[in-house]
Amino acid sequence: MSRALRAAALAAAALLGWLAVAHAVSFEVKDGNSTCIKAELSANFSITYTTASGTKTVIVPLTDSAVVGSGSSCGGSGVSPELLASFGDGHSLGLVFSKDDRLYRVLNLSLTYNLSDSTIFPLSSKKEIVTLETKATGISAQLNTTYRCLSSSSIRLGSEVTVTFSDVRMEAYMPSANLSSKETVCSADFPATTAAPTQSPTTAPTPPAPGNPEVGSYNITNVNGSLCLLANMGLQLNVTYFSKSQNKTVKGIVNLQPNRTSFTGSCEAATVTLVLMYDLTNLSFTFTLNDTSNKYHLSAVNVSAAWSDMMAPFTVSNSSLNYLQGTQGRSYMCTAEQTLPVTNTFSLNTFKLQVQPFKMSGNKFGTAEECQMDKDNMLIPIVVGAALAGLVLIVLIAYLIGRKRSHAGYQTI
Ligand SMILES: *[C@@H]1O[C@H](CO)[C@@H](O)[C@H](O)[C@H]1NC(C)=O
Ligand SMILES: *[C@@H]1O[C@H](CO)[C@@H](O)[C@H](O)[C@H]1NC(C)=O
Ligand SMILES: *[C@@H]1O[C@H](CO)[C@@H](O)[C@H](O)[C@H]1NC(C)=O
Ligand SMILES: *[C@@H]1O[C@H](CO)[C@@H](O)[C@H](O)[C@H]1NC(C)=O
Ligand SMILES: *[C@@H]1O[C@H](CO)[C@@H](O)[C@H](O)[C@H]1NC(C)=O
Ligand SMILES: *[C@@H]1O[C@H](CO)[C@@H](O)[C@H](O)[C@H]1NC(C)=O
Ligand SMILES: *[C@@H]1O[C@H](CO)[C@@H](O)[C@H](O)[C@H]1NC(C)=O
Ligand SMILES: *[C@@H]1O[C@H](CO)[C@@H](O)[C@H](O)[C@H]1NC(C)=O
Ligand SMILES: *[C@@H]1O[C@H](CO)[C@@H](O)[C@H](O)[C@H]1NC(C)=O
Ligand SMILES: *[C@@H]1O[C@H](CO)[C@@H](O)[C@H](O)[C@H]1NC(C)=O
Ligand SMILES: *[C@@H]1O[C@H](CO)[C@@H](O)[C@H](O)[C@H]1NC(C)=O
Ligand SMILES: *[C@@H]1O[C@H](CO)[C@@H](O)[C@H](O)[C@H]1NC(C)=O
Repeated sequence: MSRALRAAALAAAALLGWLAVAHAVSFEVKDGNSTCIKAELSANFSITYTTASGTKTVIVPLTDSAVVGSGSSCGGSGVSPELLASFGDGHSLGLVFSKDDRLYRVLNLSLTYNLSDSTIFPLSSKKEIVTLETKATGISAQLNTTYRCLSSSSIRLGSEVTVTFSDVRMEAYMPSANLSSKETVCSADFPATTAAPTQSPTTAPTPPAPGNPEVGSYNITNVNGSLCLLANMGLQLNVTYFSKSQNKTVKGIVNLQPNRTSFTGSCEAATVTLVLMYDLTNLSFTFTLNDTSNKYHLSAVNVSAAWSDMMAPFTVSNSSLNYLQGTQGRSYMCTAEQTLPVTNTFSLNTFKLQVQPFKMSGNKFGTAEECQMDKDNMLIPIVVGAALAGLVLIVLIAYLIGRKRSHAGYQTI
């Protein structure tokens, strides 16, 4: 009887758990009256633990009973904002955020669980509190936008825990109490992207040197709906990082796959920013306009990557670049491969590039200003052509002279 009752209770609990997985749980972190973090998400945790008779894996959903724990804070001088979602008997999910001048990200994702809780971990050999964490979360978004990822995505914490998120809408460093209406959509939510998760750089610690990247097309529109940036380019990243699997510094060469790259950006009078998001990699380009000279150039590149093979997340930036210089109203074009060194650990190879920031007339590129390499390449056929024409002329003249001579010689006989 009591056994049947327990089975029924377990079934009911399972059903409740299942229902809980199916809809998002909401959290809000406040400092006084001002909200700094809001999150609506579904999550479940797959946790492996040991029992006397071997290892066991349980799936624990994050349910409505979870509350914003006391470890949560909006941060401040030197302290990062954190959302700590507490549930059950001493379990919690922690998200620590950080930001730079453009993006915010989940810097540290952690799960704390209490193996003494026998309702979740029956027969556990250990009775301790375990905390596992990772910095390779791949969750980042433009500031003042809501991070949205409806697709399900899994993040491993050590070998025992996998956190699976879905239906995520969240924002940190919020400018107001409501989630921003502008969204940064994760690449998994783009229709073209769900099919091919296998070629991710996260699963390929030493990818073979890829061929030339495919050309992607990116554009940014201003508040009026007119374009302030149009770019067609193939991009290859050259990242020097410390590899976990190889225990040494390696060079990762990664091509951006346009159909798995999402983009966003902003238009200001003298600054145009393009942000590309590819797997666990964020890349931002800043173009600056000089009003006096009426010329634009690529002035800054920021990169952050959190590949699973990286010992530590990779972040570099350089704001004193002077690449891709063009005249306002015209486009900059470089068909040849071009290498843009950013720092000593990061460079960018561009292929078949055409870009135009700031003033655009309609939805197409203005007159192209070609890079020196293209001009040089153009010069080769001209030089070869001229040389051939010269050769033909010389042969012709030689022939005519020869004919005249032989003609004259014949006459004298
Ligand atoms: C919070 O809001 C209440 C009511 O609107 C107000 O009385 C209080 O001063 C506010 N506190 C802070 C820290 O802004
Ligand atoms: C861990 O779980 C046990 C049993 O449910 C409980 O007595 C204990 O208070 C929990 N520990 C914490 C830190 O919550
Ligand atoms: C990550 O967050 C957890 C929970 O807040 C904390 O215990 C841990 O020290 C953090 N790790 C790092 C490297 O900041
Ligand atoms: C865990 O969550 C993911 C996404 O929410 C879902 O697809 C999966 O079925 C869940 N697993 C279990 C065992 O509930
Ligand atoms: C975000 O919004 C705040 C307040 O509206 C503003 O001060 C800040 O400059 C914005 N940041 C970015 C990167 O847009
Ligand atoms: C924020 O959301 C609340 C509740 O949905 C709504 O009443 C309020 O108007 C919103 N505020 C802004 C600034 O959109
Ligand atoms: C994305 O592009 C790659 C390379 O061309 C291709 O192999 C893959 O099928 C594409 N994926 C989708 C979903 O279109
Ligand atoms: C939007 O259009 C208005 C009116 O045409 C113009 O004054 C304003 O400068 C435009 N804003 C931008 C960002 O182009
Ligand atoms: C990557 O950068 C290194 C210098 O850091 C350079 O030696 C190497 O040739 C580059 N590889 C590619 C494919 O661009
Ligand atoms: C990594 O290499 C260093 C020396 O190169 C060595 O001391 C260390 O044990 C290695 N670590 C692993 C995990 O192989
Ligand atoms: C803008 O261009 C002018 C003329 O080429 C130059 O003198 C000036 O230093 C430039 N301004 C900036 C901010 O680069
Ligand atoms: C801008 O990008 C969007 C989304 O990829 C695309 O639908 C649109 O056609 C692009 N516009 C131009 C002018 O290329």
